[in-house]
Amino acid sequence: MVRVIFVEPDGTERNVEAEVGHSLMEAALRHGIDAIRADCGGGCSCATCHVHVDPAWRNRLPSLGETEDLMLEFVEGRDEHSRLSCQIDVSAELDGLTVKLSEEQR
Ligand code: FES
Repeated sequence: MVRVIFVEPDGTERNVEAEVGHSLMEAALRHGIDAIRADCGGGCSCATCHVHVDPAWRNRLPSLGETEDLMLEFVEGRDEHSRLSCQIDVSAELDGLTVKLSEEQR
């Protein structure tokens, strides 16, 4: 298990245990992070799993995929730290990963 920290827009931190091999989106759903709706179930076609990755972690994640980049164009509040959580696989190297939940998805 890997510890992941979801930060609410008001700064409240929610620490969850995520299973290696699952996506960050799946970890959010399993722990009731309701800002992550994941309407498409992880198919990279809805962008309702948008998060802002903490700058300290940004370069430690796999690169932004082409489809992910296209989907993020439709996201209100996108910035250079934006990712789709369904496209981030949890690995041991991501222990302590911190992402901020999007205000626009509340
Ligand atoms: S769950 Fe739909 S794009 Fe991530």
